[in-house]
Amino acid sequence: MSSERDDKRTIEILERKCTALQAELDTVKIEQANYLQNISHQLVAPLNAIKWHIENLTSGRMTNIDRAKKVMRSVYSQSTIAVHLAKNFALMSNLEGDHALTALKEPLQPVSLCRLAINLADDFQPLGWDKEIDIAVDKTNFETASEVLVMKPLINQVLSNVIENAVKYSNPGSKILIGGKYNKDHDSVSVVIRNHGIPLPAQVADVFKRGYRSDSAKNKYPAGTGFGLFIAKRIVEIHEGTISAQMLGRDEVVFTITLSVRGLEGKARFREPKNRSSRR
Ligand SMILES: Nc1ncnc2c1ncn2[C@@H]1O[C@H](COP(=O)(O)OP(=O)(O)OP(=O)(O)O)[C@@H](O)[C@H]1O
Ligand SMILES: [Mg+2]
Repeated sequence: MSSERDDKRTIEILERKCTALQAELDTVKIEQANYLQNISHQLVAPLNAIKWHIENLTSGRMTNIDRAKKVMRSVYSQSTIAVHLAKNFALMSNLEGDHALTALKEPLQPVSLCRLAINLADDFQPLGWDKEIDIAVDKTNFETASEVLVMKPLINQVLSNVIENAVKYSNPGSKILIGGKYNKDHDSVSVVIRNHGIPLPAQVADVFKRGYRSDSAKNKYPAGTGFGLFIAKRIVEIHEGTISAQMLGRDEVVFTITLSVRGLEGKARFREPKNRSSRR
């Protein structure tokens, strides 16, 4: 009799657990649907802009060559945004899927952070044209800094996310300056990205939280997911480096990323470069 009662109780407990799990699953499903909606919304905006520009260019109505050039620049900058967003979404789903970017199985390779910064400055410059924002790379001490052993596409995305923010949140007519240097004491290279624009929040570390966007960021640039710096921090942490942000004066924002030159060398979870001697 008592064992029958025990069985009944066990069944009741299991049923309650099942209901709770089902509710959790429903919440995850809703979050997943919202997330996908957000992705599609973010990607559709630049793609639509590209479509309109191309329609304009092919309509035959645009006879002014300077105007046509401006539209082509916009097509370029909107494509840069679309590619940038798509890469962030791919990284994000990887982070959410198995919480490990190393699952991307990118090999380690020697990378010049100065070269990456120069290429990204070129890529993002068109985004700044409308607001007359200039992006410059100061090569002093940066060009001669050692190469760092990293997963190149991921570190490219880190710099891309920070530089994209600098462009989005800068004051019109201001200058973005990217510099860097080798730190002898720690055998590392630091990249510093400075811009003048909206201030960081009082709790600066909030900017690295998943989904965080300050009110002034939302006002200045309504589209955005708040994933960029969260992803950047995760990638830097996987590389055992550091990323930090600070305000200087009233409107200067400074992001510093520091990566060890050969910190990941020989670590089992990373794939080493094929030809290690080519590193130096
Ligand atoms: N250069 C900057 N100047 C001022 N605030 C910044 C700067 N970079 C980041 N922030 C703040 O940190 C927040 C988080 O940045 P993050 O890149 O993660 O997201 P986002 O730019 O809002 O959206 P997205 O996911 O599209 O990049 C921003 O919304 C903004 O409030
Ligand atoms: Mg961003």
